[in-house]
Amino acid sequence: MSRLPIISDKPSTLVDAQDRNISYLRVSVTDRCNYACTYCVPEGGVPMVRRERLLTFEEITRLVQIMAGMGVRRVRLTGGEPTIRKGLVELVASLSQVEGIDEVAMTSNAHLMESMAAPLAKAGLSSVNVSLDTLEAGPFAQLTRRGEIDRVVRGIDACIKAGMRVSTNAVALRGVNDTEVVALCEFAWDRDIVPRFIEHMPMSSGDAFDAAEQFSSAEIRSALFEHYGEALVAEGSDQGKGPARYWSVAAGTRGTRRVGIISAMSEHFCSTCNRLRLSATGKLHTCLAHDDALDLKQILRGVSATDEQIRVAIRGALSLKKPGHEFDPSGAGGPAKHMISIGG
Ligand code: 5AD
Repeated sequence: MSRLPIISDKPSTLVDAQDRNISYLRVSVTDRCNYACTYCVPEGGVPMVRRERLLTFEEITRLVQIMAGMGVRRVRLTGGEPTIRKGLVELVASLSQVEGIDEVAMTSNAHLMESMAAPLAKAGLSSVNVSLDTLEAGPFAQLTRRGEIDRVVRGIDACIKAGMRVSTNAVALRGVNDTEVVALCEFAWDRDIVPRFIEHMPMSSGDAFDAAEQFSSAEIRSALFEHYGEALVAEGSDQGKGPARYWSVAAGTRGTRRVGIISAMSEHFCSTCNRLRLSATGKLHTCLAHDDALDLKQILRGVSATDEQIRVAIRGALSLKKPGHEFDPSGAGGPAKHMISIGG
C-alpha cells in the first residue's frame, strides 16, 4: 500500500510558548466505553454524544496528515474504549500509512482484544496500554462496573501474541489496589511486559475523585522497595516517550524488570509535555487539566476549509497551551470535562 502523503507547506515542528516540542497526538475515537470504571465515570454516568457529532475516519485521517506535516510523529487512539468504534481496524490501517507517523498506539481495556488484537496488529497498531487496576475478580468487576478480569487477561495475551508492545496501566487507589503493587508487577513481568502506575487525577470537577483514595508515587515506590529492597533502581524517564518515570528490579535469572510510575499529581511533568489531544467530537485540547479547546470539527466542516486555515488554527490553539496543570490534591477545581470523553 502506498503511503498517504504528509499535508504540509514545508517540513516543520510544533513548538509552544514554553519551548515544548509537540510530537504526540492522542485521538479519542469515541466517548463510549463498555466499562464504567468508578474513578473515571461519576455515579449516574455522563451524557453521551450522538454519533453524527463524532469526527469521521476521513476527518481524523486528514487532521493527522496535517499534524504529521507540522511535526507530530506518534498517534495514540483512546476513547472511551476505542475498540467499540465500528471500523476501527480500517482507521488504524489508514493512520499507520500517513507519512511522518512513526507509531500508532492505543489505550484499551482489552475486553475485545481476544478477537481484535491480530487484525489491529496487522493493520499497523504497534503498541497497546491496557488498563488493569486489579487482578482480583470481585474488585475488578466492582471497579469497572461491568468488567471481566479473565477476559481482559486473555485480551492482553492476544495482544502479546499478535506481536504488539504491551504495557499495563493501574490507577493507584488506596483501599482498592494499594496492596497489589507487587502482584501487578509480577503479573506483567511474567509476560515480559511493563506495568505502570498512575496517580489519580481529579477530572469531572472532582466528581469521580476521592482524596482519601489518593495513593502517591512515593507510596508506590515504598511498596516496591519494601518487597524488592536494594534491587530496585531508579532509571528516570524515557526521553520524549511519555510521562512515566521508570524503576527497574534486577531479577536474577529473569533479567531486568521495569516498572513505570506516572506521578501526575505529586511530581508533575508538565515542563516536558509533548502532547495534544483531539476529542471524539473534534475538539483540540492542549491540556488534560484545562477545559479550553479549539473546535476543529467546526472549521473542518466549514465551507471548504483549507489545510492552511486548519494549520493556522492549530498553531493559534497551541500558543495558548498552559505551562502546567493546576490539579488540586483535594480534588477541588479540576476540569469539568470527563476522562471518558478525552481518554486520559
Ligand atoms: N486519573 C488518572 N488516570 C486515569 N485514567 C482514567 N481516569 C483517570 C484519572 N482520573 C486512566 C485509565 C486508562 C487511561 C486512559 O487513563 O486507567 O489507563
